[in-house]
Amino acid sequence: MTQKIPTTNTKVIDWVNEIADLTEPEAVYWCDGSEAEIRAINDLLVENKTFIPLNPKKRPNSFLARSNPKDVARVEARTFICCRNKIDAGPTNNWAAPAQMKKRLHKLLKGCMKGRTMYVIPFSMGPLGSDIAQIGIEITDSPYVVANMRIMTRMGKKVWGVLKDGDFVKCLHSVGSPLKKGQKDVPWPCNPENTYITHFPETREIISFGSGYGGNALLGKKCLALRIASTMARDEGWLAEHMLIVGLENKKLHIKTYVTAAFPSACGKTNLAMLIPPKELSDWKVSTVGDDIAWLKPKNGRLYAINPEAGFFGVAPGTSAKTNRNAIESCRANTIFTNVALTDDGDVWWEGLTDEVPAHLIDWQGNDWTPQSPTPAAHPNSRFTAPASQCPIIDKDWENPAGVPIDAFIVGGRLATNAPLVYQSFNWQHGVYLASTMGSEKTAAAEGTAGEIRRDPMAMLPFCGYNMGDYWSHWLKLGARLAHKPLVFRVNWFRKDEQGHFMWPGFGQNMRVLEWIVKRTQGLAGATETAFGYSPAYRDLNWKGLQMSEEAFRALMHIDAELALKDVEAQALYYEPFQKEKRLSAALVSELTLLKSRLTLIRS
Ligand code: GTP
Ligand code: SPV
Ligand code: MN
Repeated sequence: MTQKIPTTNTKVIDWVNEIADLTEPEAVYWCDGSEAEIRAINDLLVENKTFIPLNPKKRPNSFLARSNPKDVARVEARTFICCRNKIDAGPTNNWAAPAQMKKRLHKLLKGCMKGRTMYVIPFSMGPLGSDIAQIGIEITDSPYVVANMRIMTRMGKKVWGVLKDGDFVKCLHSVGSPLKKGQKDVPWPCNPENTYITHFPETREIISFGSGYGGNALLGKKCLALRIASTMARDEGWLAEHMLIVGLENKKLHIKTYVTAAFPSACGKTNLAMLIPPKELSDWKVSTVGDDIAWLKPKNGRLYAINPEAGFFGVAPGTSAKTNRNAIESCRANTIFTNVALTDDGDVWWEGLTDEVPAHLIDWQGNDWTPQSPTPAAHPNSRFTAPASQCPIIDKDWENPAGVPIDAFIVGGRLATNAPLVYQSFNWQHGVYLASTMGSEKTAAAEGTAGEIRRDPMAMLPFCGYNMGDYWSHWLKLGARLAHKPLVFRVNWFRKDEQGHFMWPGFGQNMRVLEWIVKRTQGLAGATETAFGYSPAYRDLNWKGLQMSEEAFRALMHIDAELALKDVEAQALYYEPFQKEKRLSAALVSELTLLKSRLTLIRS
């Protein structure tokens, strides 16, 4: 096909030519974002057997994709920050020298798109034309990526009009699987042995090779909107965070506020962003602004947040009409499902979707499956890609380029022991300390052992594009400049009893915690000072409609000083490498010292 090049931006044209010369695709296609285009892409994906069309009566305009079993999640071990000085990547990131990494990638990229079409995807993270949005251009040889990017970002020819001759983030992606003449393609081409997800924050470039899955391949998401954006935010005085944004309104109390929450991958962001309050708390109206990423900018002494994305890339397992009806509604049509199971009537299924398990399914690997099968029907990191506009409770300001004002930051992880349900930090500095030492069990969202506990500061461990110690200092400095600082809360929905059962019902019931948090921001709720922070007493939470005894609540809030002191030691060790690099703010060390003395007092 011959196409007129849709831009006069010579930086774009030169780059596209350079990459085409290097990767040697069979054709170059400039995406315009039109309906006709996506129909053709979907048809092509069906023809290639990447997409299985779902039953249009049950799931209109929706598709199922099954990935290669070796390409099912983000690969943190193969993710690199390539800045000039190793110390600027810090102790938590993989580092490579930019020139060296480029050399290695150059070898892999040479001829890597042979036999494939190279797509040029212009996209905006954030509302098109907003002064806080960022434009990226993704070059990819994966039509699956095109279809997903069209849902996840504002993609198409309008971007050229906004970009004009300006700068953009170069996002280069290849599945790394060239085709020889006449060679038949596979449904999910990839190259797991040679996967690299690389970031060049100083030149604002991303090069991703070998994987077609999620955050590895949809480069607007974690690569641009977090790793590259976090370095922009450091330089320009704002924050790019792995946070949901949720609106909370109570007409009786004359409150409309917004809060954000940073939880690690697969730890409850989408669920909290779309929460349905229990009927006894139906005074509260919840609305969704974003479910994964927030860009927060200071203005008049406050932080305003926008969601840079246009879609949800949500975890399927555990999502049901009972746990998250709004997510279920969001993916009722126009959705791409990846690695879930297929029902006999052409719909999708995953563990937890229904109480009743279907008698027969095709599992995520394409095999027959019955309830007796030893492996799950859907992969634990299976996902749906759905337009945010389909969420029934999407906030009326979700695309407001000015953002929404934020009154509280919630941080938390997935911890089975000694992490109370909720407490408030004493102040901003203490809040930054709490967020910096967050621990969480690893989940299926990243390759590796699920269940193992690791520190995941601000839920940004895999997503911070620079030295984590500098990032904490950036938070401290930014907050110090805000007249109206968000209050900081730490939560944990995942505490377990000795029998291994969750002690807190979670999901919609989390509204009780949100209510206390919002009331705290308005000076309307009480709290008690504990060693960890300001904690609600039993009487401070609304128990209407939930039977939980004061004793059970105490157990949920309990702090074992002995265990906490052990953790203080572990935190000191964890801070050490940052201290050695002289990248640790003295403020965080003092917070640790203060906590230690508070705990020592209650122990003795
Ligand atoms: P990413 O998209 O990977 O960033 O994940 P996320 O943080 O948006 O997590 P999500 O809301 O998709 O939840 C992940 C898993 O945790 C799902 O299986 C949920 O059912 C489960 N989950 C979410 N909230 C709760 C809760 O309050 N309690 C319990 N027990 N499980 C929850
Ligand atoms: C996460 O892992 O936090 C996700 C999924 O939201 S991915 O887009 O693959 O990063
Ligand atoms: Mn996420």
